[in-house]
Amino acid sequence: MRAILCNEWGDPDTLILGESDLPEPGLGEVKIRVRAAGVNYADLVLIRGQYQEKPDFPFSPGLEGAGEVLEIGEGVTNLSVGDKVMAVTSKGAFAEEAIVPSNSIFSIPEGMDYFDAAVFPVAYGTSHLALKERGNLKPEETLLVLGAAGGVGLTAIECGKAIGAKVIAAASTNEKLNLAKSYGADHVINYLTEDLRSVVREVTGGKGVDMVYDPVGGDFSFKAMRSLAQQGRYLIIGFAAGDIPSFPANYLLIKNISVIGIFWGWYRLNQTETFRKSFSELCKWYREGLVSPHVSQKFSLSEVPEALSVLETRKAMGRLVIDIDS
Ligand SMILES: NC(=O)c1ccc[n+]([C@@H]2O[C@H](COP(=O)([O-])OP(=O)(O)OC[C@H]3O[C@@H](n4cnc5c(N)ncnc54)[C@H](OP(=O)(O)O)[C@@H]3O)[C@@H](O)[C@H]2O)c1
Repeated sequence: MRAILCNEWGDPDTLILGESDLPEPGLGEVKIRVRAAGVNYADLVLIRGQYQEKPDFPFSPGLEGAGEVLEIGEGVTNLSVGDKVMAVTSKGAFAEEAIVPSNSIFSIPEGMDYFDAAVFPVAYGTSHLALKERGNLKPEETLLVLGAAGGVGLTAIECGKAIGAKVIAAASTNEKLNLAKSYGADHVINYLTEDLRSVVREVTGGKGVDMVYDPVGGDFSFKAMRSLAQQGRYLIIGFAAGDIPSFPANYLLIKNISVIGIFWGWYRLNQTETFRKSFSELCKWYREGLVSPHVSQKFSLSEVPEALSVLETRKAMGRLVIDIDS
């Protein structure tokens, strides 16, 4: 099969399109024919050797994808050959075929195509779990989303709105802010040209926001933490800007602030009931039209390095997808 191969840790341009073979699926595993794969920031971290997991070379990156079940391993009873599925592969989705544990495969909701399905699990899964399970966001509360037009950011707006909260979206360009608005944001802030904290104070009548969703890190995090109301919660999602923020404990004490870490992958592997419940509500929200992936650009398999470069240069809006067969 054709596959993008990582033979050394490095930048996207070190990846090559090559040929690879997969074994039969083992106990509890399924082989899928990948039709589309989502591009995630974590793919960049993985190919640079900076991820928790460091696979042996050569391997194919690609955290999530969608396609049909090709073969079923021993012990798998809930899937059949030909089923249309989306999958969290961890690695291996940038290839024509992938082997995935059956507990990381989900049926594609009625009406969803392979492109939307390929970008559905990670971003929506993270935002739903972060806001509902970890943050306990309430309908009467206000949520501030940083990097709001990015992969996970846009899904946090939709999930926040689906919960009933008021959502303030912060991003770096007017084009990104327009996208955030079209996805339901009640207020938008350009955090490069406006003072985040003062605009938040103005919009919330001086109170501050109840929750911050932060996939960006870096300089914006401190200002966002200072924008929290009493008993605010700060959700740590990721560090796309590179720098890992730290918060002075005195600020947290005075305002009774909770800083909450979220690692969605841990829930997927260790809290399967919570994970499945979260995923099933997301699929219901999709069927009800409350969430709908924004795929802004499609790339062929040979263009995976280009897609990853678009992501790392902050040019992506919503999600980028790999059309494996194009
Ligand atoms: N905790 C979890 O379980 C979990 C799950 C999924 C993803 N994540 C993490 O969440 C983060 C975002 O992932 P994503 O896939 O949504 O990425 P993305 O689509 O690239 O979005 C990241 C956003 O960060 C902002 N940003 C600020 N400085 C940046 C820089 N120097 N380079 C790139 N982006 C920059 C950009 O928005 P502006 O231009 O508007 O500032 C961009 O839209 C990553 O760190 C990822 O690992 C964590």
